[in-house]
Amino acid sequence: MYVGIFPDKKSLAEAAAHHLTQVITESTHKVIGVATGSSPLPLYEELRRMHRDGEFTLRGVRAFALDEYIGIDDDHPERYRNVLRTELVGEDKTGLREEDLMTPDGSAPNAVEAARIYDQHIRDAGGITIQLLGIGSDGHIGFNEPAGSLASRTHVEILTQKTREDNARFFEDDIDKVPTRCITQGLGTIMEAHETMLIATGEKKADAIRELVEGAVSAKWPATILQMHPNTRIYIDEVAASKLELADFYRARWEQRHEA
Ligand code: GLP
Repeated sequence: MYVGIFPDKKSLAEAAAHHLTQVITESTHKVIGVATGSSPLPLYEELRRMHRDGEFTLRGVRAFALDEYIGIDDDHPERYRNVLRTELVGEDKTGLREEDLMTPDGSAPNAVEAARIYDQHIRDAGGITIQLLGIGSDGHIGFNEPAGSLASRTHVEILTQKTREDNARFFEDDIDKVPTRCITQGLGTIMEAHETMLIATGEKKADAIRELVEGAVSAKWPATILQMHPNTRIYIDEVAASKLELADFYRARWEQRHEA
């Protein structure tokens, strides 16, 4: 695990975008996993700039979302398909084509079956080359909440009270408007990505980052499963890194990392 610690969101986003675009450019298997939440937004902004300036395009790249709410209106701006459309889809954004954006079907009559089908779609696509991740303050990745299976496939999950409180800011600060269920890639699904990169900034993430990097692998903090992934990078700011005991060592290792 490489841990990069950055002074601000902009330098973090630029470094993350540089790596992501390099991996996709060099790979013959152009499939990315995309995350929602506020953490990846500066990275998406940088991808739009790169597309505008002709440095990189997501045209021809397939993108699989991590998760989707169940029971959210099709046209709701916080439906993750709509969030990703707004951020990434179109020649005026990153060049990603609508038909290349895959999201779990949160309005399917049978959500369990929709989850199974989504997992199969990822397999049929030959897997994900690089999976982008955020992290919840309770340590979830995707929407894999504490004490689920560390080997889960894409599945239906219910959200913790903490996650619904955290996400209320996207729903007019009204927790009752936050959906209670979702479909999420499982931890086992995420772990099959060839490479993963996780972005976290701010004080609210400091505990989860401490557990992720230095805690024991445990279903209580789902993100800790990434310690078992052979090719993971963590992009964090100084505040999110503030509870790490060995931060100086991680900085040194980051500087001396060898590129795959
Ligand atoms: C949601 C998403 C996660 C995301 C998390 C953190 O719960 N399902 O994928 O990592 O929020 O969000 P933020 O980056 O806004 O803190």
